[in-house]
Amino acid sequence: MLYKIPKSFINELLSNTNIVDIISSKIKTIKRGKNYYSICPFHNEKTPSFSISFEKQFYYCFGCHVHGNAIDFLINYEKMNFLESIKELSSLNGMKIPNSKIINKKYYKKKKLYDTLKKISLIYKNNIYKKKNKNVTKYLKTRKINKKSIETFSIGYSNNLKIIKNYYIKKNKKFIKNLIKSGILYKNTNNTIYNRFVERIMFPIKNLKGEINGFGGRTIFNKVPKYLNSPETIIFKKKENLYGLFETYKNNRKPIKKLLIVEGYFDVITLFQNKIKYAISILGTSINEKIIKKLFNITNTIICCYDGDDAGKKASWKTLKISLAYIEDNKILKFIFLPKGEDPDSIIKKEGHKKFLLRIKNAIPMSKFLFTKLLKNNKLSNPEEKTKFSIQVKNIIEKIPGKIIKFFLKKNLIKKLGISKVKNIKLQNKKKKKKKI
Ligand code: UTP
Ligand code: MN
Repeated sequence: MLYKIPKSFINELLSNTNIVDIISSKIKTIKRGKNYYSICPFHNEKTPSFSISFEKQFYYCFGCHVHGNAIDFLINYEKMNFLESIKELSSLNGMKIPNSKIINKKYYKKKKLYDTLKKISLIYKNNIYKKKNKNVTKYLKTRKINKKSIETFSIGYSNNLKIIKNYYIKKNKKFIKNLIKSGILYKNTNNTIYNRFVERIMFPIKNLKGEINGFGGRTIFNKVPKYLNSPETIIFKKKENLYGLFETYKNNRKPIKKLLIVEGYFDVITLFQNKIKYAISILGTSINEKIIKKLFNITNTIICCYDGDDAGKKASWKTLKISLAYIEDNKILKFIFLPKGEDPDSIIKKEGHKKFLLRIKNAIPMSKFLFTKLLKNNKLSNPEEKTKFSIQVKNIIEKIPGKIIKFFLKKNLIKKLGISKVKNIKLQNKKKKKKKI
């Protein structure tokens, strides 16, 4: 739903806002002369070149030249959209967005679900330590999850139907309604209400702001399915939400240097517990472009670390293919291939932090994976094989926007083919023919 916020309101909002306060509440700043300075949160640096001017109500980085007002800062640093940033500043200033019925209605609808999930998450969390749920602590112990992780990730437990009964007794109909809307409860065709998550360890899936969008629940009694996710709701999109993103964002200096993509909830938590605090998990869905785009928006280096099985290998190749369109020259995509039968959770428990760091250090760059994979069943021993290989590489190179990486991939191709000059083989589209790289 599109809705235009009057320009006059935005101007008033900005004149009531102090950008120094906004930024200083999020990153450490020091006053020097008239202006404030800090380490730039948008590029890696050691000395502060990020300046904030009170007079101009503007930030500017002498290093990477990012600049903007308070709204731009919230959009770029907190990854809010325009509307969210306006709302944030309005609420800080006690201002009401004019004529914003439509926005409010939509926002209010979502907000109700966020509040509901927050409440239910606390109930789940309290369940963990209840005496009658001894099985839960026992299970978490066998998985080596410590108390700190339970706190950091707000891990909980959904026992049987108690929650519903309690709230029925209190006749808290609204809460029940919202629990249904957010997928915690569901009504069957006879209008009977059920708990979707029964006897499961509950992992809240949060957005960048820490609001809970949905849950993943793992059975502790070998029930099927092993993991159950919240259904799609107005705030939970399985293909977009990522587990561990909030915790990663909270625990790393910005810009985040690198991110690991893993498959499972336990992978994220066990890595975190072993001081690898930058892993996020796709929620049992297959990787997609939206996720890659989102992640390359907050980091320049993505490292895939899927399970050591065929599915994991396939997922790596799929990730490579869908990432191509986002490989600018400053973006790096790498892969860790774990030994057969291992996943990040199991391997770091076995090998520990240091050896896992080595695996990260030795991660295979996209270019190497690409050539190894394509040359696995192709010995380039005749013109046909060489042609096939050239076409495959050409199709891949064409999708990459980064000019320099493109150039080197081409060079690599030519070397593999045993040709001496780039000119000898035309690798570009007809339209782009004239462009020289
Ligand atoms: P795995 O089966 O590899 O899970 O699925 P895991 O994390 O290693 O499981 P543990 O260690 O036995 O607890 C990887 C991920 O796929 C999703 C979950 O997100 C899981 O973490 N998944 C798996 C589901 O959504 N549903 C399932 O039934 C199984
Ligand atoms: Mn796994």
